Amino acid sequence: MKKFLIAGNWKMNKTIAEAKEFADALAAKNFANAEEVAILAPFTQLVTLGESLKGSGIGFGAENVHFEPSGAYTGEISVPMLEEIGVNYCIVGHSERREYFAETDETCNLKLKALIAAGITPILCVGESLEVREGNGEQTFVASQLVADFKGMPADDVAKVVIAYEPIWAIGTGKTATPDQAEEMCAFIRGVMGGMYSNEVADSMLILYGGSMKASNAADLLAKPDINGGLIGGASLKIDDFSAIVNAANDLK
Ligand code: 13P
Repeated sequence: MKKFLIAGNWKMNKTIAEAKEFADALAAKNFANAEEVAILAPFTQLVTLGESLKGSGIGFGAENVHFEPSGAYTGEISVPMLEEIGVNYCIVGHSERREYFAETDETCNLKLKALIAAGITPILCVGESLEVREGNGEQTFVASQLVADFKGMPADDVAKVVIAYEPIWAIGTGKTATPDQAEEMCAFIRGVMGGMYSNEVADSMLILYGGSMKASNAADLLAKPDINGGLIGGASLKIDDFSAIVNAANDLK
C-alpha cells in the first residue's frame, strides 16, 4: 500500500493558544493512519504541540534548525534543543528560507546530516522559480539541488529523508502545479535519487508535493504514483481544510 505524509507547514502563523486549540481538535479526529499526518510549526508552539498530540500518532516538528549543536549563533535553535522537545520532523531548505534568509545547499546539507544523526526526519524542500521553469530548466535545477543537498550522505541516511517538491511559482499564489506537472517532477526526483543511490532507496523515499495544495485539488495530486503526500501551507491553517486533505489521502488507501 502507498505510504503518505500529509504535513502542514504553518510558517509564521498562530499563537501558542491557537496552536493548542488546533492540535487538540486534530488529535480528536482519530484519523486512520494518523502516523502519516504531521504539523510543522514555529518554535514557540512546539512544546504545546507535543503535549496536545501525544498518543494521537500525529507527528510534529520544526520549520528550521541550525546545524551546530550549540554556540554563539544568536537567534538560532539547535538539533539537541529540538530533540529535547521530542520533535519527529524538521523542514530543511524551504524556498522562503533560501530566498529571504540566505539558506544555501551547503547549509541544507549540514542540517540534513545533523538531523539524521539525531533521529529527526528532515523534510528537504527543492523546487524551481518561475523564471527557471519558463526557461525549461526545472529538471536541471532540481537535480543540482539534490546533488548538493545530499553530498557525502550514505544511502541508509538518505533513505530516511523526506523530499518535498515545491515549485516556487506555486507557493502561496493559488496557482497549483497540475497533477501531471507535479507527478513529472516527483518521478524525476525519484529517478535522480535512483541514479545517485539505488532504485531500492529511491522507491522507499517519501516524495511530497507542495504549492497551493488544498481540499479541492488534493485527491488528484495524491492519486499520482510518485506523489507520497503534501507539504501544505495556507490550507493547513484551518482544521476543516487540513482534515479534508488528510481524508483525501486516506480515501486513496
Ligand atoms: P501554500 O500551500 O500556502 O502554497 O504553501 C506551500 C508551502 O510553502 C508549504 O511548505
